[in-house]
Amino acid sequence: MFWRSTKTLYMAAVVIVVVMNTREVWSRAAMTFTPRSEIGYPAGLIPECPGVMKNASISPKMMPLLQIIVHRVTDKGTIRKPLQITNAAKVVAKDKNIDLKNRKTVFYAVGFMDSSVFLQTQAVANSYSKLGYNVFVSETFVFLTYIYPKSVRLTRIIGKKVGEFLANLTQKGLTAENLELVGLSLGSHVVSYAAKEFYARTGKKPSRITGLDPAGPCFRALPPEYRLNPSDAERVDVVHTNIDGFGMAERMGHIDFYVNGGEFQPSDVPYIPCLVICSHLRAVLYWWQALEHSKKFIGIRCESVQDARFANCYNNTDNNYLGLETNFQKTGIFYLPTSNEFPYFMGMDGLKPENEVYTSFIRRINDDDGFVV
Ligand SMILES: *[C@@H]1O[C@H](CO)[C@@H](O)[C@H](O)[C@H]1NC(C)=O
Ligand SMILES: *[C@@H]1O[C@H](CO)[C@@H](O)[C@H](O)[C@H]1NC(C)=O
Ligand SMILES: *[C@@H]1O[C@H](CO)[C@@H](O)[C@H](O)[C@H]1NC(C)=O
Repeated sequence: MFWRSTKTLYMAAVVIVVVMNTREVWSRAAMTFTPRSEIGYPAGLIPECPGVMKNASISPKMMPLLQIIVHRVTDKGTIRKPLQITNAAKVVAKDKNIDLKNRKTVFYAVGFMDSSVFLQTQAVANSYSKLGYNVFVSETFVFLTYIYPKSVRLTRIIGKKVGEFLANLTQKGLTAENLELVGLSLGSHVVSYAAKEFYARTGKKPSRITGLDPAGPCFRALPPEYRLNPSDAERVDVVHTNIDGFGMAERMGHIDFYVNGGEFQPSDVPYIPCLVICSHLRAVLYWWQALEHSKKFIGIRCESVQDARFANCYNNTDNNYLGLETNFQKTGIFYLPTSNEFPYFMGMDGLKPENEVYTSFIRRINDDDGFVV
């Protein structure tokens, strides 16, 4: 058995070497890859989703399980206070540690099978708290663990409730100008629906929405009004990290960052590739580190999403920062280069094409002229 598979591997290697030795063909073919229409284009994971537009509702019995976590970092550690969404606004108004009038407020929505207790959620919440924000996090584990298309249907009612909660807070001093929403994956659409409800109730749009690799499955075929789109908030920025898998290739913001092309992220574990889930969840790590290191994640303007996919943007000199310093005067598509290792940012070094993470890595391991085995 072992011998048979070793032999197969050996044969495969011989074939590869023979193919590679037809030098001219190989070097010409390996120069650059540009997609040709005859091989098609990715449709992305679960582009269509029958029944996704049907309603879903939450019974009075289940409603208490839809919670808002008040998250705060103190000298003595992190404090997390879970509140039922229906009376959260009243409790929050009496909390002396929350200053809705003078401080900014962030609402962070977790994604599918995600929770406010998970480490990546707490990391982002801690960063915002340390930056002086009032921090609220959604706790939707009971709801967004139904089979995926059903969870998608629930995002609309959850978002509506969140929007109602935030609108209620405007009677306690919250202003739209001080309100920022952030969502990871399915949470991006939760905050989109929350913003729509907030607008319906107050006539104002939240100051900002940041979508962290907004979920693509079941959303790809929907018109913009049924998902995150630039009309949801005064400023919408999107971090794309897995556009053909759990994310979505389409632009959804005023500013869209396609990190390392937006499809797959480089791995920080040697020889173990960062595939679909890994690339998708990397969006929240980039955002967390962008909050911690201001002006270190720098995007380069691109003419198209296709150019961003192929890192074909280095000739542009216009840049933008990922994080709280994003310049929303400069709308558009940005290719954002990172390194493969935590904390990922490259600063100004990222603006040089020779540092592009995939090609520089392959160039390094392949820099010998003769390869003898
Ligand atoms: C879904 O709910 C909304 C709001 O309650 C209602 O306007 C709409 O008609 C419902 N749609 C269906 C298909 O039941
Ligand atoms: C908003 O306020 C209304 C009126 O006080 C209350 O009935 C409702 O439960 C509140 N909803 C949320 C989600 O805070
Ligand atoms: C970028 O600029 C260089 C040098 O001016 C040029 O050779 C190259 O073709 C340009 N690349 C793109 C994609 O425009």
